[in-house]
Formats: sequence, structure tokens, C-alpha cells
Amino acid sequence: MILITGSKGQLGSEFIKQFENKYNVKGIDIEQVDITDLDSTVNYISAIKPSIIIHCAAYTNVDGCERDKDIAFKVNAIGIRNVAMAAEKVGAKLVYISTDYVFDGEKEKPYNEFDRPNPISIYGLSKLAGEEFVKTFCSRYFIVRIAWLYGENGNNFVKTIVKLAKEKGEIDVVNDQRGNPTFTKDVVQAVEVMMNSEKYGIYHVTNEGIASWYDFACKIVDTFGINCKVNPTTSDKFIRPAKRPKNSALDKMMLRLEFGYKMRRWEEAFEEFAMLMKGRI
Ligand SMILES: NC(=O)c1ccc[n+]([C@@H]2O[C@H](COP(=O)([O-])OP(=O)(O)OC[C@H]3O[C@@H](n4cnc5c(N)ncnc54)[C@H](OP(=O)(O)O)[C@@H]3O)[C@@H](O)[C@H]2O)c1
Repeated sequence: MILITGSKGQLGSEFIKQFENKYNVKGIDIEQVDITDLDSTVNYISAIKPSIIIHCAAYTNVDGCERDKDIAFKVNAIGIRNVAMAAEKVGAKLVYISTDYVFDGEKEKPYNEFDRPNPISIYGLSKLAGEEFVKTFCSRYFIVRIAWLYGENGNNFVKTIVKLAKEKGEIDVVNDQRGNPTFTKDVVQAVEVMMNSEKYGIYHVTNEGIASWYDFACKIVDTFGINCKVNPTTSDKFIRPAKRPKNSALDKMMLRLEFGYKMRRWEEAFEEFAMLMKGRI
């Protein structure tokens, strides 16, 4: 059985959608098990004995983490420690979903899996602490760093831009942060390839090609055919509690070396997503 945590969330729900007719899959969210509680997490996982756990549950509000450090570390570090201990106890493989925000963004080129993390936000620090717990407590793990995620469920940048563009007709979007916009569907497909192997380690899983948030917003407005002017701006005009890396593009070196696997380009993935969402957002 495959256990998906955070199954109501943006990525967890995509795992359920793509896996439910293929595997014996069980989704849980905070209503079933609060992962910050060691005993209930270990008891629950020991009772159902999954062979694979895909851990999508997290406290994902990046600015919220800056305001409430305790919640960030409780969910994103202690929570995954509990899941990692339970996974080890039942002999399950563990897929831990992590983030591009473990990097500081100072590198000019995309980060590969062998670059040293140096988070600049509480969210990034708490997710990196989660990676450390996975390595300490679990022997069969895949740490999967994803980034700039959008999918059918939950809130994301695409839905925000579509809403703002329709309402305002002119928007300013930062042009000095670069990354890889990534479709949830493509993350699930890459994880499926690795989870059925024993090639454990850290993997970067994002769509190919680099964009700024401004580039991405232009593509969104254009693809959805919204009449809106998009202006490039800079991060210093958008002061927010958490700092974001200037460059968090990821090189998929491990996918390439271990599986010869190539992610498709972000524009192609986004066009498929836009077709799927036509008339729905
Ligand atoms: N979104 C992105 O752009 C992005 C980028 C890089 C990495 N990631 C990582 O990708 C993963 C999935 O992200 P996502 O966008 O799908 O997140 P999401 O939509 O916020 O889903 C996370 C889920 O975890 C649940 N959860 C929170 N605290 C919990 C707890 N104590 N016990 C059990 N469940 C709990 C949440 O429930 P509630 O909603 O009820 O709190 C929610 O259903 C996360 O690990 C995230 O760090 C995301």
C-alpha cells in the first residue's frame, strides 16, 4: 500500500488522482493523523504498514512560517521526523517532498543536488531540518525538492494571477526572482519512476526551463486570454516577511544520471494545465 500524507493539499490530491486506479493507495490529512504527534503517527503507520509513504503534508505558508517559527518547525521538521521514524519501523520507503527554498539563491546557475543548501527563510530552514531528520531516521529515502508548484487543487500563483488580472486589468509582478514553474502532474510522474526503484537519495524534480514570476504571469495572462497589462517590478517594491531566493532554478542532475529521465518544459506543462482548467478558474 502507498500512503499519501497531506492528501487534501495541492500535491497530495494529485498523487491520489493519478494513483488511485493503479495502486492500493490511502490518503490521510490532519483530520486522520496530526503528524506532529509522535505516538499517533507511529501507531497509525504501524497499523496499516504501507510499503511506500509519500509525505506531502507541510506548513506551506512561507510568510506564515516567518511569523510563527514554532508551527513551521513543529510541522515541517518534527512532523517529518515522526513519519521517518514510523517508515523505518515498518520498513517503508519514504518520499519526502522538500523545496527549492533550501538554497539562498546567490548561485548564478541552476542548483544541483550536490550544491550546499543555505536557507534564507524560516520555511526553508524548517524544510531543511526535515531533510536532516529523514537522513537520520530513515534508511530508504527519496528527498524530492520541487518548486513553484501549481495544480488543480488548492491555491497557487496561477489562480492568484488569473483572479487579479481579471479584476484589475493591470498588475505588477516581480522580475528579479527566477525559478522553474512546475505542474503537480509532472512531479507525480517523476516520483513514480523513482519510488519503484532502490536508487535512494536527493532528487530535484521541476519542469525544465527558467522563468521569473513576471515571465510566468505574462504566460498565464496570454494563455488564458485575459486582457491585462503586466508590468515588471522588483522585490524591494513588494516587502514581505520572508526573503525569497533570487535564483532557485534546479538542475535535475540525479534524475538524469540515475534514470535518464527528462522533465518536459514548463511552457508545455502549463499549456496542458490551462486546457484542463479552461472555464474553471
Ligand atoms: N506549493 C509550492 O509551490 C511548493 C514549492 C516547493 C515545495 N513544496 C512542498 O510540496 C509539498 C506539498 O505542497 P502543497 O502545495 O501541496 O501544500 P498544501 O496544499 O499546503 O498541502 C499540505 C497539506 O498538509 C496538511 N497538513 C498541515 N499540517 C499538518 C499536520 N500537522 N498533520 C497532517 N497534515 C497536515 C495541510 O492541511 P491544512 O490545509 O488543513 O493545514 C494540507 O492539506 C510540501 O511539502 C511543500 O513544502 C511546495
